[in-house]
Parts: sequence; C-alpha cells; structure tokens
Amino acid sequence: MERRIIRIPETDSTNTYIKALASDGEWLCVIADRQTGGRGRLGRSFESPEGGLYMSFLCPPTAGENDAVTARVAVAAARAIESMTGLELRIKWVNDLYCGGRKLAGILTESVWSGGKRKCLVIGIGVNLTEGGLTEALRDIATSVEAEGGRIPSREVLAARIVDEYDRCTDFCEEYRARQLLLGCNVEVHRGNEIFSAFAEDIDADCAVILRLDNGEKLTLSSGEISLRAEER
Ligand code: BTN
Repeated sequence: MERRIIRIPETDSTNTYIKALASDGEWLCVIADRQTGGRGRLGRSFESPEGGLYMSFLCPPTAGENDAVTARVAVAAARAIESMTGLELRIKWVNDLYCGGRKLAGILTESVWSGGKRKCLVIGIGVNLTEGGLTEALRDIATSVEAEGGRIPSREVLAARIVDEYDRCTDFCEEYRARQLLLGCNVEVHRGNEIFSAFAEDIDADCAVILRLDNGEKLTLSSGEISLRAEER
C-alpha cells in the first residue's frame, strides 16, 4: 500500500497528530524529529527528545486485532532495523524491541473509532537512534543504535523500510515467537494492582502469551492491561 511520508519538526505525539488526518482517506505516514507528549502502552509516557525516529502510519481496520497487528509490526520493524543498522534484535512480548538486553524501540497500536465502528488503525513506533535520543534516567533500561555500535540510518529511509516490511510481512507468527526474549524464563506479571510470578511457556497462534502459574495451571493472556518483566534472581 502506497503511503505518503510527511516529516514535521515537533508534535505532542505522532499517533495523535495522524489521527486528526485519518478522515482524509489517505494512508499516510508521519515522522517527527521530537515529541513533547510521546505515549506508550498502559498510559505510560514515551520520552522523545531529538535523536530518535518517532513515526506513525495508518492502516485499514481489516488489518486485524491490535495484538496481532502489534506482533506483525514488531517483526517488520525488527527486520527493517536489523537490515539498516547491522544490529540483532529480539522482541519482548508484546510491543518492545530489545538489543543487547535493553529496549531499543517500542510500538503503540491504537484503533480509531467512529459511530461505534473501527475506522482505521494507527501504528506508532519509536526507535532510539542516537545517544541524544535517550535521557540520562533511561540509560540503564534503554539503549540506542549508536550505543550498540550500529549504523545510523536516515529517518525517512528507515520509516519507509518499516512500512514496506509491514506490508510484506503477512506470515509473522513463527518469527514473532522465535524472536521472543522472555520465552522459557520466569516472569513477573503485572495486571492492574496484581503482581504474580509465572513461567513464560509459549506464544499461541493469536500472539497471546501462554504462562504456567506456580500452582501448575496454564494461563493465556492477550496484552490488555498486562506487562511482563524478567524475574529478578
Ligand atoms: C511503548 O514503549 O509502550 C510504546 C512506545 C511507542 C512510542 C511511539 S513514538 C511514535 C508514536 N507516538 C507516540 O506517542 N507513541 C508512538
């Protein structure tokens, strides 16, 4: 699908910006040099100073449910970033890309509703490219292409490559599973105010995670209000 790429110097969030353009019927992609109110999953903020790629693109509602679309984007973005930087990436269920044990990129998929119907999907991706794209407070848990010694790509070319890979990537579930960081690990599950430990056993065909609880029961979770962390040893 052909998408025109628009580059702007600053906005609060490219996801919010592109939503306002969604009614034009054009399948756009927007890139910003920085965001003043970047948003992540679960209502978290996403720090977005100059030095990163902050992009959003629109997709028709037929693209699928948010988790499956997020999984497809994760695989597409991993392939695109790897091919342009020379780095190796893994995926942390459901929406984070990791390199060398730290977060390099995040994905936020949102639906746009109108008259009770899902009108389109907004797919937002933030990639830390240079060290300037990371605040001091984030350096323990996040990394950048520069910090990992990768080649720094042009933002427009990387954005176009991610979108192309997304369009091509119709068969992604096996690769999504193979790239998972936490499979076979003990994890801490955060669900609302509840925190419990489990073993991350598998990813199913809907890209939900299959957990084995301490009492032996199996629990299959889609992303919802849940986040997983590797358990401290
Ligand atoms: C996460 O880490 O939970 C997801 C982060 C997604 C960040 C991207 S940056 C471009 C787009 N605009 C936003 O406000 N968020 C996404």
